[in-house]
Amino acid sequence: MSAATLAMPGVATDAVPRAGGEAIGVRGVGKTYRTKRGEVQALADLDFSVRENEFVTVVGPSGCGKSTILKIIAGLLGVSSGEVSVFGRKVDSPRSDVGMVFQTPMLLKWRSVLDNVLLPVEILRRKRADYMDRAQELLRLAGIAEFAAMRPKELSGGMQQRVAICRALVYDPTLLLMDEPFGALDALSRDMMNVELMRIWSERRKTTVLITHSIQEAVFLADRVLVMSGRPGRIVADVKIDLPRPRHPRVRGTQEFMVYSNRIHQLLGVEYA
Ligand SMILES: Nc1ncnc2c1ncn2[C@@H]1O[C@H](COP(=O)(O)OP(=O)(O)OP(=O)(O)O)[C@@H](O)[C@H]1O
Ligand SMILES: [Mg+2]
Repeated sequence: MSAATLAMPGVATDAVPRAGGEAIGVRGVGKTYRTKRGEVQALADLDFSVRENEFVTVVGPSGCGKSTILKIIAGLLGVSSGEVSVFGRKVDSPRSDVGMVFQTPMLLKWRSVLDNVLLPVEILRRKRADYMDRAQELLRLAGIAEFAAMRPKELSGGMQQRVAICRALVYDPTLLLMDEPFGALDALSRDMMNVELMRIWSERRKTTVLITHSIQEAVFLADRVLVMSGRPGRIVADVKIDLPRPRHPRVRGTQEFMVYSNRIHQLLGVEYA
C-alpha cells in the first residue's frame, strides 16, 4: 500500500473483496501450561475458523486463554492437543507473514521509535528505504510522527502501543493478530484508532483477529465476534455482525449496534456469573 493510499481521507470504498476460503483453522486445540507449581489448563478443545479477508474479534473473561490462542496461531507457542492451520498449512513454527501486536508494546528500548517500526523489515531482510515512507505515514496516522526519533521510554504507554501497531502494519503482513492493541489508550484515542484501523483494513482487507475487552470495539470492527468461556477457554458464541460497511463511527449510536452490544454483554455476563 502506498503512503498516498494509506492517507486517503474518508472510509473505505465498496470495491473490496469478500471473505474467501479458510485462513485460520483451530481444531480441537488444548493447551496446558506446566509450571513448577503445577499445571494450568488454559484451553480445552477449542474450535473455530477465520476466513480469508475476515475481521474477527474475540472477547472473553480475563485468563480464559485469549493471548494463548493468538500466540499459538502465530506459531510462537505449541499446542498440547489438536491442530492449528494457517492458509492450509499446519502451524509448527513462527510465521514471517504474521503481523502481531502483543498485549504489551515489546519495543526495543535502545532503538528509536522509527527504528522500532522498521524492525520487521530488517528481520525479513528487505530494503529499509523501500519502507521508510510507509513507516512515517503510519506514525502520522497514529498521531506520533513527531516522536519518530525518540526512544520508547520517552513516550507514554498508549503511545508505545501505537508504535507496536505501526510495527505490525509496516511490512504488509498477510495475517494481522492483535492482542488488546488499544487497551492502554484513553477512550478518545481508542475510538480514533478504531476508525483508523477500520480504514486501513478496509483498503487492504487483511485477515485479522483482534482480542479486546471492549464490547463496543468488538462490534464496531468485526465481521464476527467470538465469545469465549472462562478458563479453559471454549467458544460459547459466534456472533455475525451484519452492520453494513463502510462503517461510520456514528453506527455506534444506532439501535442495531446496541442490540449486538447487549447480546454480547449478556453472553459474557452468563460467563462471568
Ligand atoms: N507462560 C505461562 N505459564 C503458565 N501459565 C500461563 C502462562 N501464560 C498464561 N498462563 C495461564 O493461562 C491462562 C490463560 O492465559 P492468557 O494469557 O491466555 O489469558 P487471557 O485470556 O489473554 O487473559 P487477559 O484477558 O487477562 O489478557 C491463565 O490462567 C494464565 O495464568
Ligand atoms: Mg491476554
